[in-house]
Amino acid sequence: MLKLDTMAARILIVDDEVAQMEALCRTLGEHGYVTTGFSSARAALAAVEEAKFDLLVADLMMPELDGIALLRALRSKDPDLVGVIMTGEGSIDTAVEAMKAGALDYILKPFRLSVILPVLSRALSVRRLHQENALLERRIRERTEELEAANKELEAFSSSVSHDLRAPLRHILGFLGFALEASGERLPPAARQDLESAVTAARKMDQLISDLLAYSKTGRVGLKAGPVELGDLVAEVIQEIGPDTAGRAVEWQVPPLPTVWGDRSLLRQVFVNLLGNALKFTRPRSPAVIELKSRPVAEGLEVRVRDNGVGFDQRFADRLFGAFQRLHSADQFEGNGIGLANVHRIIHRHGGRVWADSKLGEWAEFGVLLPRPPDL
Ligand SMILES: Nc1ncnc2c1ncn2[C@@H]1O[C@H](COP(=O)(O)OP(=O)(O)OP(=O)(O)O)[C@@H](O)[C@H]1O
Ligand SMILES: [Mg+2]
Repeated sequence: MLKLDTMAARILIVDDEVAQMEALCRTLGEHGYVTTGFSSARAALAAVEEAKFDLLVADLMMPELDGIALLRALRSKDPDLVGVIMTGEGSIDTAVEAMKAGALDYILKPFRLSVILPVLSRALSVRRLHQENALLERRIRERTEELEAANKELEAFSSSVSHDLRAPLRHILGFLGFALEASGERLPPAARQDLESAVTAARKMDQLISDLLAYSKTGRVGLKAGPVELGDLVAEVIQEIGPDTAGRAVEWQVPPLPTVWGDRSLLRQVFVNLLGNALKFTRPRSPAVIELKSRPVAEGLEVRVRDNGVGFDQRFADRLFGAFQRLHSADQFEGNGIGLANVHRIIHRHGGRVWADSKLGEWAEFGVLLPRPPDL
């Protein structure tokens, strides 16, 4: 719970009609407010240098400085101050002007206590809300900065660890290569096979480290957003991963796709991953059917990629978007489990969302929501 000032509210009353100003000070004082009165706006201005007030109640028509100008001048010194303007009957237009200039409310003179008290208490509540809001915003800003700093540190850590792991690994690979080359022929077949397995494992580890480095880079590169022709991008990706389909029956169903707003090279990675997965996990199917769908929704554009492949257990759907999470064995379907983590990261950096649905053994569907582009 936020704790703010719980002291009695301090009210500054300014009215050039001295008797009225004094009466108001007295009456509000009796109702639990701490009041300070001035019959001149200049004197009131000087007073705020010394003391702090919560609420200004000022007459509109005063000789030196009218109530609106006074409120403006006071708020430039203390933006938390709220103001209520008093005005003679018949000048509602001016009262409206006063509110436009930042007064929270106005009171028509002559007024009764039963009218003024609720107006003051409402103005003070609004002030409290403003303060609470400002406090919350400051805390959110601080937390966000802390999180960003922690995130940066983590990224830097994972990228330097990956770098440091890579050097000794390259050594291992190098020496295994030498050993196999120099004495491979003379080794008993079982020993040779062991060395070859060690090479395979070390290469796999090298790939994992590369993936980790690329993943940590995705989090750091700046977003270069612009209009992206999704249809062209998808056609390009299918062209690129097409060779993987050699000898397979693959049916691509791609409708006309709209232009979206985003970073082309990052969005390309998204579709390389999603379409690549669809192609990989439909390998046992003939024909494999990979279908893209898009539809505008309230928040932006939804794009879904559906395939008739092996699917996955829906209970683990959210887990798939974490780094190195896989639901299929590497002997069956190769991969490191980094693709969807990249998809998640890229789409979130675009302000969007990702999700996954499946019926095990029948189909899988991956969806991304790209937020509406800014108005150009
Ligand atoms: N279209 C799909 N059908 C069924 N399962 C999928 C599909 N796409 C992803 N998955 C499951 O989600 C896991 C994570 O996918 P992800 O793309 O992150 O990794 P990967 O494809 O295994 O490896 P990488 O993308 O690093 O080459 C996969 O291993 C698989 O278990
Ligand atoms: Mg993948």
